[in-house]
Amino acid sequence: MNRKPIFAANWKMNKGPSETEDFARALLPHVQHQTFPCDLVIAPPFVSLAKAAELFGNVTAVALAAQNCSEYDAGAYTGEVSAMMLKEFYVHYVILGHSERRAIYGETDAVINAKMLKAREINLKPIFCIGETLEEREGGKLEEVLRRQVTKGLEGFSDKDLSETVIAYEPVWAIGTGVTATAEQAQEAHAFVRSLIGETFGADAAARIRIQYGGSVKPGNAAELMACPDIDGALIGGAALEASSFLQIIENGT
Ligand code: G3P
Repeated sequence: MNRKPIFAANWKMNKGPSETEDFARALLPHVQHQTFPCDLVIAPPFVSLAKAAELFGNVTAVALAAQNCSEYDAGAYTGEVSAMMLKEFYVHYVILGHSERRAIYGETDAVINAKMLKAREINLKPIFCIGETLEEREGGKLEEVLRRQVTKGLEGFSDKDLSETVIAYEPVWAIGTGVTATAEQAQEAHAFVRSLIGETFGADAAARIRIQYGGSVKPGNAAELMACPDIDGALIGGAALEASSFLQIIENGT
């Protein structure tokens, strides 16, 4: 099965509108009127989405993602942003279940599932993050954790919902640490996640779903990771803050 790789820049809490503009000015000459063998996604903070939409709105090679959305439609939810609001900024993807949301903001599998369902209701494509902590891996719980996250996160998903979803396997111990999973560790986890999808949604869906790797991806390790048969792109944090390094990862990884 030929899956189109997808490379996404998760800026986390970095880059307000003016830095978003600087990044866009550096990236635009390389992406405007270009075609890529992969999908490119940029996920700025909420407050920079308007600027990103203004600058990338007519660039077909680049899609925008939000880094979160509410599970609710509207109302008394101070500080929250609904999936519907995101649509006004030409946002097509939303990152959900990121380990920082799980660990720092206490998002449970149930909350993440509610957000996943809301995103699909509004026709956003979830980039659904999963991954184990070092303690869980060393405690032999890798498969148990991934199984729980995948099963609960995708509860209530139809085949169509799944076909619009990207999974990002991000081992927590590799995020922002400079420690990358070896290609072998990553491939093993990706193959397991794909097999979990097969159990619930069938072999075709498993063969079709794109599973990104995330965790200290950089230009120097992109080629080796992306050469693994079950790795279909990357979700990149630190190394995607510079347009040149984001582009280099894409070039080395495709
Ligand atoms: O979502 C991307 C991420 O958590 C990985 O971050 O900085 O290790 O590439 P980083």
